[in-house]
Amino acid sequence: MTTLMRTTSALALVAGLASAQTAMAEPLDPVPFPDPVSLASKDAKLVPHGQLMRAEKLPAYSEPAWVTEMVEAGKLPPVEERLPDTPVVVDTELTPDGPGVYGGVLRHVSGGRSEGWNWMAGQHQGWGGLSMTSQKCLVRTGPVWQLTPDKVEPLPELATGWAWSDDGTQLTMTLLEGARWSDGDPFDADDVIFMWEDNIADTNVPSRAQPGVFGEGTSLEKIDDVTIRWTFPDAFSVPNLYKMAYINLCPGPSHLLKPLHPKHADGATYEAYINALPTDKLPWVTMGPWVAVEHKPDQLMVFRRNPYFWQVDDEGNQLPYLDEVQWKLSTWEDRTIQTVAGAADFTNMENPSIYLESLKRAQDEDFPNQIYWGPRSLDWRIDLNLSTTCGVADEGARAIRDLNRDFDFRRAVTHAVDREALGQSLVRGPFTHPFAGGLHTETDFYDSNMVVYYPFDPDGARALLAGLGFEDTDADGFVNWADGPLAGENLEITLHHTLQRTTDVSLTDSVVTMMQDVGIKVIPKPIQQMVEAARETCEWDWIIERGDREYQVPIANLDWLAPLTARVPEWHQGTAENPQELLPFENDLVDLIIKIRGEADTGKRGELLRDYNRVFTENIYNVGLITIPAALIINKRIKNVPPGTPVLAYQWSEDNVMRERFWVAEEDQLDELLPGTLPGID
Ligand code: GLA
Ligand code: CA
Repeated sequence: MTTLMRTTSALALVAGLASAQTAMAEPLDPVPFPDPVSLASKDAKLVPHGQLMRAEKLPAYSEPAWVTEMVEAGKLPPVEERLPDTPVVVDTELTPDGPGVYGGVLRHVSGGRSEGWNWMAGQHQGWGGLSMTSQKCLVRTGPVWQLTPDKVEPLPELATGWAWSDDGTQLTMTLLEGARWSDGDPFDADDVIFMWEDNIADTNVPSRAQPGVFGEGTSLEKIDDVTIRWTFPDAFSVPNLYKMAYINLCPGPSHLLKPLHPKHADGATYEAYINALPTDKLPWVTMGPWVAVEHKPDQLMVFRRNPYFWQVDDEGNQLPYLDEVQWKLSTWEDRTIQTVAGAADFTNMENPSIYLESLKRAQDEDFPNQIYWGPRSLDWRIDLNLSTTCGVADEGARAIRDLNRDFDFRRAVTHAVDREALGQSLVRGPFTHPFAGGLHTETDFYDSNMVVYYPFDPDGARALLAGLGFEDTDADGFVNWADGPLAGENLEITLHHTLQRTTDVSLTDSVVTMMQDVGIKVIPKPIQQMVEAARETCEWDWIIERGDREYQVPIANLDWLAPLTARVPEWHQGTAENPQELLPFENDLVDLIIKIRGEADTGKRGELLRDYNRVFTENIYNVGLITIPAALIINKRIKNVPPGTPVLAYQWSEDNVMRERFWVAEEDQLDELLPGTLPGID
C-alpha cells in the first residue's frame, strides 16, 4: 500500500516535471528556407516590347466574308470605319503560327459565375476568363511575361501611348483614337473620366480600385477627346502604371451608364445604379474581342466576335480570328477533367489532387493537349484576423483578435504546421513546396535570405501556448483559456474556407489535425462561395486562402501588400470610420511599400521587396502553408499559343496567351452555336 502510494506520487511528480519542462522548452529558431527546384517550362520565346503589339495605321483592312455580307446588307458600317485610326497591330512574324484563318470556337469551362455587368461598381463577370474578356483597361499586363528584359513595362490596351513629364509627377496618356464600343458608340476620354470621377473617386460606388492607391492627392484630367493627364505625388511611379491594368482601371460605356448614375439622373439611387445590369441583360456593351450574347444560368455563356474590336494582324485582318467563345458553367476541377478528356480546350491545372491522373492521361498517344508548367505561383495560407475595429462581435471575438495579434501565438501556429506532410497529402512527388507566407519564392527577386522560416516544431508550439497561459485544465486534449472573457473554455478558433476548390477542403482537414495535436481546437466553417463573402463581414477568426498575383509579381498590385488603405491587407481590415490599429512592424511594411511605389530602378525595388518579405515572414504576418506550380493545358487544335505561357505571372493565363490571336485550321474547326451572328445586330 505504502509502496504503491509512493510510486503513484513519484509518477505524478515525474509527470509534473515533464509538463513544466515542456512549458519551459524553447521553440526552435528559424532555419534556412529550402530553395525550391523549379518545374517551369523553359520554352518561352521573348519578344521586344514594341514588337509584341504596336499602334499603327495599315493601308487596308479585312474581315470574315460573312461579316462583309452584313456590311453589304447595310447592317453595319465598313470595317475601316469600325476600326480606330491607328489600330493595335499584331506582328505575325513573331507569333508562333503566323497569320490565321477566320472561324471556329474556343471552349472554356469556368467554376465562377457572373454578378452582373457593372464592373466599374465592383461586379465581376465570372473568374476563369469571363471578366477578362469583357473588361478592357487602360493598359495590359498579361503578356508582359513575354517581353525581353530591355523594356519590361505594361502594354497598350485602351491607352496606346504614355509619357512622363520631366519631373516624373505627370503622366500623359493617348487613348485609342476613333475606337468604338461594341454597339458602335465612340470610346473617348469622357469614358475614362466617368470611370475615375463617378465610380472610383465616388465613395458611394464600391469600385475595386480606390483613388488612394495611386498616392494621396492623385488627380486625372481630360486634355481632349483622346488625351488624359495624371498627376501623382510620386515621381516616375511605375507601379501606378501597372495598377491601370485589369481589373482596376477598366472603363465601362459611359453613354449607357451615366444616365443611370445618381449624379446625372434625377431620382436614381446608388443601389439601383450598382445593380442595374444583371447578367441576363444581353448583349452587354464592351471593348473586348468577344461580346456575351447568351446566358443559361449554371450551364453556359456564349460570346460572339465584336465587330468593333480594335486589333488587326499585320496583313490588316481584323481580330479575333475565332468567331465564338463558349463557357460551360461548372466547377474548377471539371475544367481540368473536361480539357484533359478533350471536351474543352483550356484549363489552368491547379488542383494538385488531379495532377497525377492528368499526367498519366498525357502519356496516351492521342492526348489532345499541350501542357506547360509554370513556376510555383499559387500558394495557400492561413489568414489570422488582426482587426480590432472591424466585425468584432463581442468580448470573446475581441479576445481571439488579441491572441491573433500576439507574435507568440502566431509563432505557435506556424510551428504546428508540418508543411512537408501537408504538401505530400495533396500530391506525392516534387510538385509542392513549403510556403512561409509573404511573397513567392520562384520570382525574379528571390533570394533565400528574404525568408524567415520557422520549422515544424510541435513541442515549441505547445511551449509557446503554455507561455501564453494556456493549459488543458479539463484534460480533453485542448488547451483552455486561463483568464479573460473566455476563461475556462477550450481554445476554439473558427476557420472559414471555400468549397469551390478541393485543395482548400483537404488543407482545412489537415490543419484541423495539426492544430489539434498542439491543443488548439479548429472548427471548420465551409462556405459555398469564395471566401471573400465571409471576409467582407469581417466576422471571422481564421481563413484559408489561395494567394496569387500580388505575391508573384508584387509590382502589379503593391497596394494589396500593406495597410495603405482601410480594407488592406485582407487579414487586417478596418472601416472607413475606424481604420486599423497597426502592429509596430506593419508601419515598417507600409513605409517599405511607399518606398517601392516611388522607386523607378528595378534592382533597388528588388532589394526593397526582399526587405519587405523579411519583415513580413519574421513577424508571421500570415501563416504560409504550401506553394504549387500550375500547368496550362490547351488543346492542340488551337494555334498561336505562345509556348511556355505561365498560368500566372502579371496576370492569369487567359490574358497571358492573347486569345484574340488564336486560330484553328479550317478542317479542325468545331461547330459554332450561333453561326453567322454578331452581338446586337439582327
Ligand atoms: C480563377 C481560376 C484561375 C483563373 C482565374 C482567371 O481564379 O482559379 O485559374 O482562371 O480565375 O480570372
Ligand atoms: Ca481542454
